[in-house]
Amino acid sequence: MTGPFEFATAGRVVFGAGRATELPALVGGWGERAVVLTGSRPDRHASLITALPMDVAVVPVSGEPTVDAARAAVAAAREHGAQAVLGIGGGSVIDLGKTVAMLLGNGGDPLDYLEVVGRGHPIGRPSVPFAAVPTTAGTGAEVTMNAVLTSPEHGRKASVRARSMLPALALVDPLLTVDCPPAVTAASGLDALTQCLEPLVSRHRTPITDALAADGLRHAAAGLRAAYADGSDVAARTEMALCSLLGGMSLANAKLGAVHGFAGVIGGLVPVAHGAICAALLAPVTEANVRALRERDPDNPALAAYRRAAALLTGDPGATVEDGVEWIARTVRLLGVGGLAAGGLDPDLVDDVVAKTGSSSSTKGNPIDLTEEELRRALVAAL
Ligand SMILES: NC(=O)c1ccc[n+]([C@@H]2O[C@H](COP(=O)([O-])OP(=O)(O)OC[C@H]3O[C@@H](n4cnc5c(N)ncnc54)[C@H](O)[C@@H]3O)[C@@H](O)[C@H]2O)c1
Repeated sequence: MTGPFEFATAGRVVFGAGRATELPALVGGWGERAVVLTGSRPDRHASLITALPMDVAVVPVSGEPTVDAARAAVAAAREHGAQAVLGIGGGSVIDLGKTVAMLLGNGGDPLDYLEVVGRGHPIGRPSVPFAAVPTTAGTGAEVTMNAVLTSPEHGRKASVRARSMLPALALVDPLLTVDCPPAVTAASGLDALTQCLEPLVSRHRTPITDALAADGLRHAAAGLRAAYADGSDVAARTEMALCSLLGGMSLANAKLGAVHGFAGVIGGLVPVAHGAICAALLAPVTEANVRALRERDPDNPALAAYRRAAALLTGDPGATVEDGVEWIARTVRLLGVGGLAAGGLDPDLVDDVVAKTGSSSSTKGNPIDLTEEELRRALVAAL
């Protein structure tokens, strides 16, 4: 029987190749002053920014966001008197934008609200209006209610999270992703795939997220290898922008699993792209989950969901779970994503990572509780 559920997403979702040009009209009426966060090359979006109908301060962002980067960005926004925030960039830029919009509405410091390592205060007031315009596909951060920040002092990534952090506008234009270099296409695309697979088997899945996550996997199968092989393939880029969007909607409402539980911990320790960390873990964690479900909970519907995922990814309606795992492992190899040790994760840290992963908020969505030994085996396989 289906239990109670709810679903929340961005206030407005606008999708389509070429639609980024609508941004100025879409944010009309959002106030006289805004802060625009971009990647390290704001000139890429110069024509879009100059067309905005407000007095704009541009804040370029480099690297994945830290607590200090959020402090600097919100200081710039406060100094400018920003009434709205726009983020044009990858998940890093969008997460920083979400954090700035929340801090402008609520006051205080990022650590006041950061989960796990911060003070975790509830976020009681609305954010100022925030528009998310992704240039990677992706994190789906344009439709999620959290922002991931690294706290170097704690050596850990954690989220600032509130329903009120859902962007007022998610403007998804696949043309903005055609410049992504192959390594970014690979890492962000495998993140998008993971963000469809983990909600599909999550213990918090709902009928709505099942539909979205399954469709997202279909788009990943159609677009991921093709977008990596030819970045200018707009059809493939469109498939991946959809995969990312649907994954974001799914994870925001069904949560994730042990892959993201691990990724939050490992991402605070080594400077490896979030998506590449997820990619290295995806096949080993899937194998661990399937083995544990078969041994301890063989009637769990997550096993059927894994078979459904295998059919969607391979395009073979009769595919087994093992076929699906093999498709994932082959795709990760094809896209040139290496193991975690090559990325700098010290094998001596395995026990520490496993202990922290067990308590991470993402791990709680995993379809079955994995033992420390099962988590350890999956992590060692991902090294
Ligand atoms: N809030 C969420 O729901 C959520 C979900 C998943 C991941 N994340 C977070 O998102 C971050 C990763 O985001 P990401 O994978 O989008 O990567 P990213 O934003 O870190 O960007 C990766 C690199 O690609 C460059 N780039 C971005 N778009 C480009 C383009 N069109 N052309 C050329 N270069 C481009 C960036 O400048 C950067 O150097 C991580 O911090 C991760 O933790 C957040």
